[in-house]
Amino acid sequence: MRIPYGIAQRLGYNMIESNKRYLDKNWQNTMRIRFDYNNMLAQNVGEKGISEAEIVGICQRKANAIKNMQSKRSSMEWRQLPFQSQTLIDEIKATATHIQQNFDAFVVFGIGGSALGPIAVHTALNNIRYNELGKEVRKTPKFYVEDNIDPERISSLFQIIDPKRTMFNVVTKSGNTPETMAQMLIITNVLKKALGSSFANNLIATTDETKGNLIKIAKDFGLKTLFIPSGVGGRFSELSPVGLLPAAVCGIDIEELLAGAQYMDFLIENSENNPAYTFGALSVIAMEKGNNISVMMPYADSLKYIADWYAQLWAESLGKRFDNNNSQVFCGQTPVKALGVTDQHSQIQLYTEGGFDKTVTFIKVEKFKKEVLIPRELVEYNDISYLCGHTLNELISAELFGTEYALTKSGHLSNMFIMPEVNAFTIGQLLYLLEMATAFAGELLNINAFDQPGVEEGKNATYALLNRKGYEEKLKELQSIKPKDEKFIV
Ligand code: PA5
Repeated sequence: MRIPYGIAQRLGYNMIESNKRYLDKNWQNTMRIRFDYNNMLAQNVGEKGISEAEIVGICQRKANAIKNMQSKRSSMEWRQLPFQSQTLIDEIKATATHIQQNFDAFVVFGIGGSALGPIAVHTALNNIRYNELGKEVRKTPKFYVEDNIDPERISSLFQIIDPKRTMFNVVTKSGNTPETMAQMLIITNVLKKALGSSFANNLIATTDETKGNLIKIAKDFGLKTLFIPSGVGGRFSELSPVGLLPAAVCGIDIEELLAGAQYMDFLIENSENNPAYTFGALSVIAMEKGNNISVMMPYADSLKYIADWYAQLWAESLGKRFDNNNSQVFCGQTPVKALGVTDQHSQIQLYTEGGFDKTVTFIKVEKFKKEVLIPRELVEYNDISYLCGHTLNELISAELFGTEYALTKSGHLSNMFIMPEVNAFTIGQLLYLLEMATAFAGELLNINAFDQPGVEEGKNATYALLNRKGYEEKLKELQSIKPKDEKFIV
């Protein structure tokens, strides 16, 4: 039985959970994300823009890339994530309910793709001051994602949580990442001291089903486990248990999130002129014209960390030295995170008057969850009285328009994702759209978008410095490097 909205609210039901609006095709279509690329085109921005000839020029590559995306679909396991089995969804929801009923806080230990997605989705869909809300309003546990090993940070975490009342979710695909495993050792020690032999009740491992150390530990100590499919890499894993469990614990409707991704998948499969392939292709043309920077600038605080998540996705996937033919290409665009309107007062000066080396991607939210009126106060001050009677919604929208206009007038490239609202359905669309755009750009560039060989050298040096077995040769190599010259350290 569907409980009417008002009654359900009074009863304290989580409305998102009980509302299956995402099954309604009409509602879905009103929530479609659109992509506006007018201001990428020479006809609108002038000579630095993308010309007709450049669009025609990429057509053949685009056609091949689309074919490859189709033929590789089954080997890109992350593309199955929007279609999770009901059994897994039910398991995640049951686990989330258990955590909601028995714990005050939920902490994710993970890094990179095991952390950025959970942060982005939580920030997008929950109250911006979620943790500061009282439990009676929030109804769900406080939420922390610890994605660094700064000793001050983890120490301060233990000042504000009670480990006995906290569920810790250790998330690592490889099950070996030193940062996450160091956190695992610390938390095991803390929990053993606090809870003795029942410490495992406060730990959940999200990892590969067979590979790595975390799964071995989980089996040895009987931890609850959730699995990341073997073919899914970290930055493409948000729609797996990596992101779904934290989202569900914090009260997000994970079925609506997945429905949004499915909807975008359908759009992409059924039209070549979809937002993902268009964004991917235009970004590649822009990159090849020397726009080596990709600024992601949402005009909504809720989307601030979507820009962080995108930065990893775009950087690790496309920043490659070699292409698939082993030729050196040194490609990629440096992602920059910006927030509208905040960064209008920090970065926009550079974007409008600096070099022609970047594209700016705005994310516009058409309807915010709240409307705030700027009251008719202090009207005697003429220079600010123009604000009176408008809403903050109008102001943010006017500022986005103004910034876009200024960029276009100065001949700089920009484009815009338009989101009707920020909700689980549109966030599901956006995540999948950007993943598909990234994979598609990888196809156009003929590179492997799914590996990250460039991070190995630094990792191996770290292992050697900590005397990890098997890294003796690397240690010798490090010991033989020329010491830094003091005269260049001032
Ligand atoms: O995208 C990736 O694969 C990486 O950024 C990983 O997410 C990151 O290195 C963490 O890896 P893991 O989940 O194995 O701990």
